[in-house]
Amino acid sequence: MLLPYELAVKELTIKFQHMIKEYKRQNAHSPIEQVSGRVKSVSSILEKLQRKNIPIEKMEEEIEDIAGIRIICQFEEDIDIVAGLVKQRSDMQIKSEKDYLTHMKESGYRSYHLIIYYTVETSEGPKKLQAELQIRTMAMDFWATIEHSLQYKYKGDMPPHVAERLTRAADAINALDHEMSSVRGEIIDAQNSSRLQSNIVRDILMCIENLYKVTSTREVRKIQDEFLRVFAANDLARLERFHRELDIIAEGYRIQALK
Ligand code: GTP
Ligand code: MG
Repeated sequence: MLLPYELAVKELTIKFQHMIKEYKRQNAHSPIEQVSGRVKSVSSILEKLQRKNIPIEKMEEEIEDIAGIRIICQFEEDIDIVAGLVKQRSDMQIKSEKDYLTHMKESGYRSYHLIIYYTVETSEGPKKLQAELQIRTMAMDFWATIEHSLQYKYKGDMPPHVAERLTRAADAINALDHEMSSVRGEIIDAQNSSRLQSNIVRDILMCIENLYKVTSTREVRKIQDEFLRVFAANDLARLERFHRELDIIAEGYRIQALK
C-alpha cells in the first residue's frame, strides 16, 4: 500500500532538486536550498490513526502526510516564492495550506505547509495521492529538529523550563531570519558572483583543453599562463574579459583547423 507513496516521494524530490539545478544553471539565486523526503513509517501511521481515531479504511484519505517532502530555503522571502512555484505547476494540485509563518504555533513552530494531490503511474494505472510539503528556512528547520528531539525525549510532557527555553530560542530564530532578510540582496549578489566566477572558470578551462587539440602546446601554455595570472588577480570583470578574448582566439583556431 505504501509503494506508490515511495514513488511519489522519489519523484517529488527529484523535481524540486531539478528546480535548484535550473536556477543554478542560470546563475540565479535558488529559492530552494535543499530538499528531502520520507514515507511515514508504518508505526507512526498506526499511532496517528489511533490518536485521531481514524478507521484504517480512511487512512489514505485522512492521513495527509504519508508522503512528506521538506523544502529548506535560505531566506523567509524564498518560502513564498517556492509556494508560488508549486501553485503554478500542472502536476501538483493544492488541496490546502497552513501558514504557520504568520501564525506561529504555540510551541514556537514556524513553517509553511501545503497539502497537494499528486498522481503517480503504477502497474494498476494512475493513482492520485496526497503529499505534505513543509517549506521553511534553514533556521526554522534547525529549531524544529531540536524541538522534535525534545518532544520525543519528554513524550508530550515537556518540563516548563525546557518549553520556555524553546520559546526563547524560537524568538531568536525569528530575529535571525529577519536579520538575514535584511542583507538578503547582498548575500545573493555575493553568491551569484561566486557562481558566475566558477562557471566562467569551468568554461575557460574547457576551452584551453580543446585548444591543445588544435594548436601547439607552446601556444596553449602561453594562454594558460595568462589565465593563471588573471585568475590570481581575483577580479571578476577581468576574468570575464579574458573569457571573451579567449572565445575569439579559440574561434580563430577552429576556423583554421577546418581549412
Ligand atoms: P500531525 O501534527 O502530524 O498530527 O498533523 P496535524 O494535522 O496536526 O498537522 P500539523 O500541521 O499540526 O503538523 C504537520 C507536521 O508539521 C507534523 O507532522 C510535524 O512534522 C510538523 N509540526 C507541526 N507542529 C510542530 C511542532 O510544534 N514542532 C515540530 N518540531 N514540528 C511540528
Ligand atoms: Mg499537529
